[in-house]
Amino acid sequence: MTRQFEFNPTNVNTILDQTWQHLTSAVETETHPWRLGNLATVTADRPRVRTVVLRDVQRGERELICYTDRRSDKVAELQASPWIEWVTYDPVTRVQIRLRGIATVYINDDRAAQHWENSSLEHRRSYITVSAPGTKAESAVPNLPDFLFDRLPNDEEAQLGFENFAVIVCRIEHLDWLQLRRNGHLAAQFLWTDKWEGHWKYA
Ligand SMILES: Cc1cc2nc3c(=O)[nH]c(=O)nc-3n(C[C@H](O)[C@H](O)[C@H](O)COP(=O)(O)O)c2cc1C
Repeated sequence: MTRQFEFNPTNVNTILDQTWQHLTSAVETETHPWRLGNLATVTADRPRVRTVVLRDVQRGERELICYTDRRSDKVAELQASPWIEWVTYDPVTRVQIRLRGIATVYINDDRAAQHWENSSLEHRRSYITVSAPGTKAESAVPNLPDFLFDRLPNDEEAQLGFENFAVIVCRIEHLDWLQLRRNGHLAAQFLWTDKWEGHWKYA
């Protein structure tokens, strides 16, 4: 199916609806560019940004969810300051979205377990690492224990990864939408107070 935005130009909320629909379908669609996002955090004096995979979307809760290793820098950054921005672009619809909000990190609890249950063995293997991600390595070797160099873990082995598994839940309160068009770009923005308030804006 061709991806597109079909909206009513006099009703900005049709943009909001379509955006959440595209995000939801991106979770399940390996080839959807919105399945990858760039997640920015703040530190005391510098921004930090990295690519993440969109693993789940809960529209009712305004949540975008990704997974990470609890020992990664971004977890400490979010624990110190929960503000995030998530940006992604689809070259087919030519739509960029920027989503701003607050992140909560879930580790070793029911919410983490619920996501862990749904993850594949291949995915779980990436949490059974020898060293914390980001640690200096003496040579170019994968960060895996010897016994997992050339195979997937079984269910029992995979469980070793759970203690390093973290779920980042980004609750969105500001959504910025931009579509590049040959005859003039279109833009809209939405702010959550106790409901979404949106308006078109000049690009
Ligand atoms: C295509 C792609 C997808 C990635 N997805 C994730 C992800 O879902 N979670 C994650 O923690 N890191 C992911 N990474 C790695 C991060 O971009 C980053 O390098 C790593 O998490 C360390 O980031 P940090 O030091 O800021 O914590 C991905 C990288 C690429 C290239």
